Amino acid sequence: MKFGHFDDSRKEYVINTPKTPYPWINYLGNQGFFSLISNTAGGYSFYMDARLRRITRYRYNNVPLDMGGRYFYINDGGTIWNPGWSPVKTELDSYECRHGMGYTIITGKKNGLKAEVTFFVPQNYDGEVQQVVLTNESDAPKDFAIFSMAEWCLWDAQDDCTNFQRNFSTGRVEILGSTIYHLTEYRDRRNHYAFYTVNDTIDGYDTDRDAFLGSIYNGWDNPETVKAGKASNSFADGWSPIASHYKKVTLAPGETKTLIYILGYAENPQDKKFADTKPEGLLTREAWVLNREKADAMIEKYNTPEKVAAGLEELRNTWDKLLSIFKVDTPDDKVNRMVNIWNQYQCMVTFNLSRSASYFESGIGRGMGFRDSNQDVLGFVHQIPDRARQRLIDIASTQMPDGGCYHQYQPLTKKGNSDIGGDFSDDPLWMILSVAAYIKETGDWSILDVQVPYDNNESLAKPMLDHLTVSFYHIVNNLGPHGLPLAMRADWNDCINLSCFSDTPGESFQTYTNPKFKAEGGYSKIAESVFVAALFTYTGPAYVGILEHLGKTEEAAKAQAEIDKMKKNVMESAFDGEWFLRAYDANGEKMGSHECEEGKIFIEPQGFAVMSEIGKDVGADIKTLNSIDKYLNCEFGLVLNNPAFTKYYIQYGEISTYPGGYKENAGIFTHNNAWIICAEAYVGRGEKAFEYYSKIAPAFTEETSDIHKTEPYVYGQMIGGKDAKNFGQGKNSWLTGTAAWNMVAISQYILGVKPEFDGLRVDPSIPSAWDGFKATRQFRGDTYEIEIKNPNHVCKGVKSLTVDGAAVDGCIVPVAGDGKTHKVEVVLG
Ligand code: BGC
Ligand code: NOJ
Repeated sequence: MKFGHFDDSRKEYVINTPKTPYPWINYLGNQGFFSLISNTAGGYSFYMDARLRRITRYRYNNVPLDMGGRYFYINDGGTIWNPGWSPVKTELDSYECRHGMGYTIITGKKNGLKAEVTFFVPQNYDGEVQQVVLTNESDAPKDFAIFSMAEWCLWDAQDDCTNFQRNFSTGRVEILGSTIYHLTEYRDRRNHYAFYTVNDTIDGYDTDRDAFLGSIYNGWDNPETVKAGKASNSFADGWSPIASHYKKVTLAPGETKTLIYILGYAENPQDKKFADTKPEGLLTREAWVLNREKADAMIEKYNTPEKVAAGLEELRNTWDKLLSIFKVDTPDDKVNRMVNIWNQYQCMVTFNLSRSASYFESGIGRGMGFRDSNQDVLGFVHQIPDRARQRLIDIASTQMPDGGCYHQYQPLTKKGNSDIGGDFSDDPLWMILSVAAYIKETGDWSILDVQVPYDNNESLAKPMLDHLTVSFYHIVNNLGPHGLPLAMRADWNDCINLSCFSDTPGESFQTYTNPKFKAEGGYSKIAESVFVAALFTYTGPAYVGILEHLGKTEEAAKAQAEIDKMKKNVMESAFDGEWFLRAYDANGEKMGSHECEEGKIFIEPQGFAVMSEIGKDVGADIKTLNSIDKYLNCEFGLVLNNPAFTKYYIQYGEISTYPGGYKENAGIFTHNNAWIICAEAYVGRGEKAFEYYSKIAPAFTEETSDIHKTEPYVYGQMIGGKDAKNFGQGKNSWLTGTAAWNMVAISQYILGVKPEFDGLRVDPSIPSAWDGFKATRQFRGDTYEIEIKNPNHVCKGVKSLTVDGAAVDGCIVPVAGDGKTHKVEVVLG
């Protein structure tokens, strides 16, 4: 069952009912100011950091679920409704929500009155513009009232929802004309403020939540002021400040009125926080006066429909440009809409926000993840390489001199997060992969020379290359009894905690140090991760390639020897006969072996081991992939492990705490499905690669949205696995490494257009039924118009490749470097 449809020409998903099986959201903003907006206008805004600089309040896990947002209420002759249906939930005569690239348009109609609201954050602008177009479609005049509503968060979202003894007494606002200012703590230690304005005169306002609602017993669905048809002109003093504008509107039949609201954020320099003179009409209880120059300029920027149209046009152009860098035309519409629109869009969002703020990530739980952000770069780097470059430098700056890494950092401070600390065994390797991806995309080797601090300490700065070296050797220097990398607190799978042995409620599996291992430095020196071994052998060649390019042949040979040794160690101690083991636990026992009672086979190490060609000579690659198909494949994707754990295994940690079929315990973790898709494509089994791809790619789940529940236009982290009661149900949508990895899987492995250090590889691995496909790729300043022909209906194998008619050996298109368009023709066979 569907709840909408894709409008590919406008790059939108069109939702036709407010009652989607879960709030279906969109993200507004790309740089500083961000908003989350659901299909009923729920959500919240923040500046840079969803925890430290929250602008509007949101109540997570609420009942009903999606409560709190930017709401417009209309009181039309006693009928009260919202254009997005919620929170009043009056049945609308028609409803539509269009989520597009950085904007959302929600349209509701009731009793002949139409309200179309366009929400967007313009480029280089710290505010959300909300354009409300009201049209009287009836044949009688209409007199009605419209109320806006935004509830301020008192900046630190964590403190805001816990420290009520203080926060109920700190709220401050001011009102000037049609603008309501949020000034909590501004006088003292903050130099930022927020405002909510409308480009017209108003007939009243409310800034105190209780006054707006009329009673502490009312919810957002039942505000007394709206019912009364007029504002109470309340002035918030402590408690919960809000911003609501009240406006009376009269419309003749057919007449339209446009109102432009702006929810903005501004910062003042320390010495310019206050103004000298008090503007006339300012409603304040303060003796000081805000310097509102910044807000004035922001308001001026979008105070007419023409300016709003120009802002929207600029946003559209920006996205058209971003999405023209890589475009495909395949025989499958769903592939086209994923690759050309939604997968790339999601990659921007994950790049911006890592795993911080979504409808499943509260924005107060974690900042940016070291491994997460590095992987996010893989799917994003072609869009805005300069931003990727800066991000790589920021992430590397949180690394420790020995190659270990803070697992997370706060986007506002860019400092490593000491609450969670380090010792996640996989973290350093992702840095090698992402820096290599940046160089392969851009050919910009100079990034390796940039002086990058360790532990955010400038005096410890070393060239970026040094960060890659310590990353590589952090693995080599931390091996266990079988010569495999130590598992430490966890590897990619946060829930395999082999040094935890936790039996006390509340202990964090990720950060708890069992006294048993304290003396050993915090983690077992026995437990080893086969996943990290395979990631090392997959990633290592990029490091070697970099050294070779730099002419450091000796170092390259030394590193290559480590990779070869690791492959040997894996084959000797970690190949289980039909697949690769997952780990050795702290007791030295095998994890993920046919000898185990549960959790006999795990997905994570397999793809990277296959792509590293470990044991290829004895057929380990194909055996492994066949085992995955046999044990992990099911209707909705590949489960993480099988059989699911049904007991708590204290030696494994969090993974065995989940009911079978969910999350890391045999859920369909879409992120690592991508690694198998890549591996199947790598060995040339294009059919299998595409089968797995189409099981999880959102556009393919659209038809079963009633089962899948989350948005059909973006990936979620997880789909309930075959052991789950809710088999096929998606969760944790939007912020997941799946976005980047599936972008890599479809574009670089299945469609086979893959940047390399020395050019653009074109080597597809597609379903044999395809006659071919076309792709456009902008690469290092040139444009390549690629046409793939598949006359013999094979999956893989480049028979011939020509560039502008001239034959090229192999399948790497050399960089032309002339800024021109080149025709690449590839014949498979
Ligand atoms: C989740 C993981 C997540 C980790 C860190 C675990 O509970 O299952 O997916 O990465 O917490 O937040
Ligand atoms: C989500 C985390 O963000 C990611 O870093 C981790 O790899 C997966 N969960 C698997 O545990």
